[in-house]
Amino acid sequence: TDSARLARAESLIALTPDFPQPGILFRDIGPMLTDADALAAVTQALAAPFEGGFDLVAGVEARGFLLAGTVAATTRTGLLPIRKAGKTPRPSASVDYALEYGIATIEAAGDLTGRRVLLVDDVLATGGTLRAAVSLVEQLGGTVAGVAVVLELTELGGRAAVPSTHAVFAT
Ligand code: PRP
Repeated sequence: TDSARLARAESLIALTPDFPQPGILFRDIGPMLTDADALAAVTQALAAPFEGGFDLVAGVEARGFLLAGTVAATTRTGLLPIRKAGKTPRPSASVDYALEYGIATIEAAGDLTGRRVLLVDDVLATGGTLRAAVSLVEQLGGTVAGVAVVLELTELGGRAAVPSTHAVFAT
């Protein structure tokens, strides 16, 4: 069943203590990505609530690219890579957002007028990245049709920043 496939996929998210810093329990989706059925099940689960409601999938560099790519290919929609600062030759929009220490910037190019965009990322933590991505898509003239993540780290409260986020898994 789909739920058994998803349960198995979730079990492949590896818990890695003390990464990237001491005291942080990192959840690594790497083993989930390398498993064919887990990747297929998670890709389907990311898109399912929004099927037919979007024509473009956007993912934030770097891990968001991977899942946005699989969702776009399986739903036969377009793909918009949202990049970190300095990688886009002529960005049409740029949004700064807060990190735990310092700020980061995301950028993208193009005109999204009339496009219905599904935003996809691996993890929802503080929500800063996805909130910035929503703002970026809107600045480019697009409409955000939905936000979907593989894993929501519930204790970090990021849902407040992107309230309607669909999380396949949550801590
Ligand atoms: C990670 C992750 C999300 C973001 C979530 O990306 O892939 O995009 O952090 O955190 P937030 O909800 O607190 O914003 P990161 O910026 O580490 O980039 P990476 O994908 O290149 O590792």
